[in-house]
Amino acid sequence: MTAPASLSLTEIQRIEHDHSLPLYAKREIALVRGEGAYLYDSEGRRYLDAMSNYGVAVLGHADPEFVAALSDQLATLSTGHQSFYNDQRAALLAKLATIAPEGVQRAFLSNSGAEAIEAALKFARATTGRLKVVAAKRGYHGRTMGALSATADVKYRKPFEPLPIPATHVSFNDLDALEAAVDEETAAVILEPVQGEAGIYPASPEYLKGAREIATAKGALLIADEIQSGFRTGSPFFIVEAGVTPDLIATAKALANGFPIGLTLATDAIAEAMPGGAHGTTFGGNPLACRAALVTLHALEQRGLYARAEMLGAQIIERIEGLNSPKVRQVRGKGLMLGLELKERVTPTLRGLQEKGVLALPASSTALRFLPPMIWEQEQVDELIAVLGEVLGA
Ligand SMILES: Cc1ncc(COP(=O)(O)O)c(C=O)c1O
Repeated sequence: MTAPASLSLTEIQRIEHDHSLPLYAKREIALVRGEGAYLYDSEGRRYLDAMSNYGVAVLGHADPEFVAALSDQLATLSTGHQSFYNDQRAALLAKLATIAPEGVQRAFLSNSGAEAIEAALKFARATTGRLKVVAAKRGYHGRTMGALSATADVKYRKPFEPLPIPATHVSFNDLDALEAAVDEETAAVILEPVQGEAGIYPASPEYLKGAREIATAKGALLIADEIQSGFRTGSPFFIVEAGVTPDLIATAKALANGFPIGLTLATDAIAEAMPGGAHGTTFGGNPLACRAALVTLHALEQRGLYARAEMLGAQIIERIEGLNSPKVRQVRGKGLMLGLELKERVTPTLRGLQEKGVLALPASSTALRFLPPMIWEQEQVDELIAVLGEVLGA
């Protein structure tokens, strides 16, 4: 088996800098290997993974069951356009119908979060015949042109205006603001049930219920963006757990344990409004991605990882609060989707954690984000809290 020649950190950095667009703020290290809850850099240094590569690797790295299933599928059939039927796709669709809320069980499979949102927005326009969307301030829905229309942050939007979908952004968790913005021209209300990039802000159940009522009263659809929150808050979908049924659910990240996938779940009425050929993708629903999602969903259930996420998440919140660090303003979130709001900018804390072998993420400029693999055990929580205590000087 030929493996690519191993490169030094300096060579890796030089090549990435010279030959890719300078779009990402880079974090000095090159991650080259993963095992369970740990990642390894090109110099052989081990890190506790508290971010699962932006929320995707829920089963951690090189999970034996995942590796065996994907290897088997690679040796069987990896590609397969949706104009042909496929056994793995059919098995995944049947499984998805069991976790989707009643009546929202028609799936469109794609390849990323932004694509799942793009599809939801197109479906909403085709179904309602309306153009506008109402989204939340600080909301993040992706960077393709449609998804970017719903994304709030001016720094992402500005260079690309005018954006194709007219969008109004209203305060999150504020029903009066939502009510005032939604009208007879609104195709959809699009919300993250737990705002991720903003710094992990869960919507209240009352807000989600109210959003459902407002959308229905005005003839608009409700789109739940569970791309980041999906699967890691103790159940497949936060909004469903809150007792609310949206018209569309978009998810991606965790669904196939990091294998690229996007999923848009829709009602029968939406499915009927989408005639043959109205949307499509070459790679979406390929057998390899479907097998990856199937084995991930199976493992999450069989290994009891939803309940474990809920239990470990509650414990992490309690133990961070227990550190009594003067730097901490608030810890919030649910399951293994947690935000740590500091009274200062996050960069020194993130750097300190990385130097001590823990990888976490920024969300806003003052909030750290933890999106660990859901295979974390007590040992990993203890390790996080010990290192966090040192870095926060608690
Ligand atoms: C809530 C939410 N929506 C959409 C997206 C876009 O997903 P992707 O980066 O896979 O296009 C993200 C990505 O972070 C997200 O967190």
